Amino acid sequence: MKLFLDTADVAAIRTYAAWGVVDGVTTNPSLVRKSGRVFEEVVAEICQIVDGPISAEVTATDAEGMVREAEPLAAIHRNVVIKIPLIPEGLRATRILAGRGVRTNVTLCFSANQALLAAKAGATMVSPFIGRLDDRGERGMAVIEDIVTVFQNYDLATQVLVASVRSAQHVREAALLGADICTVPPSVLDAMVRHPLTDQGLQAFLSDWKAHLAAAPRAARKA
Ligand code: E4P
Repeated sequence: MKLFLDTADVAAIRTYAAWGVVDGVTTNPSLVRKSGRVFEEVVAEICQIVDGPISAEVTATDAEGMVREAEPLAAIHRNVVIKIPLIPEGLRATRILAGRGVRTNVTLCFSANQALLAAKAGATMVSPFIGRLDDRGERGMAVIEDIVTVFQNYDLATQVLVASVRSAQHVREAALLGADICTVPPSVLDAMVRHPLTDQGLQAFLSDWKAHLAAAPRAARKA
């Protein structure tokens, strides 16, 4: 499963990209607002850090406006993927952009039926928001399971991008279900790498090594 970073914080992207595990980045208008920076500049900078799909969202709500906004965004870098809201006009824009060879990430998806429509419109990726479904007392991961099954049943090429991820447990479940991509905030990547037994084990190895050096400094390493 590919892992994308879900943030517009360029410093954080630089840090986590250095781990060698980041396959792409997703942004949205709320994340860009948090960064307080010029949208196009942020997108261009991210493209210099991560060599993979970088999602940049349009804010028009009519298909022609979405397509108009998509053009200069797609021109920023070959890796830019246009994020389009899952509304009827968004499907129309997705179809137009697919015809022009522009990759899309259809976002704000909350059901398997919506995902099916996005795939039929030619979306490159579809983003079901699992955390926001969980927040309402629904089971977001059940929607991922449905979408993965539907796409497999009909051999649909659209990639399932699990979004609105709140925990490392979400990532594990998405991977077990065979989702193509999971986009995670930096805090979730941190949670994924940590395990108390790793920390305890490392402490024990380091203190044993220190004791070994103190007891037999010449035997510790070859000169
Ligand atoms: C990413 O593409 C989505 O915009 C993001 O994951 C939404 O996450 P949120 O529900 O935590 O805002």
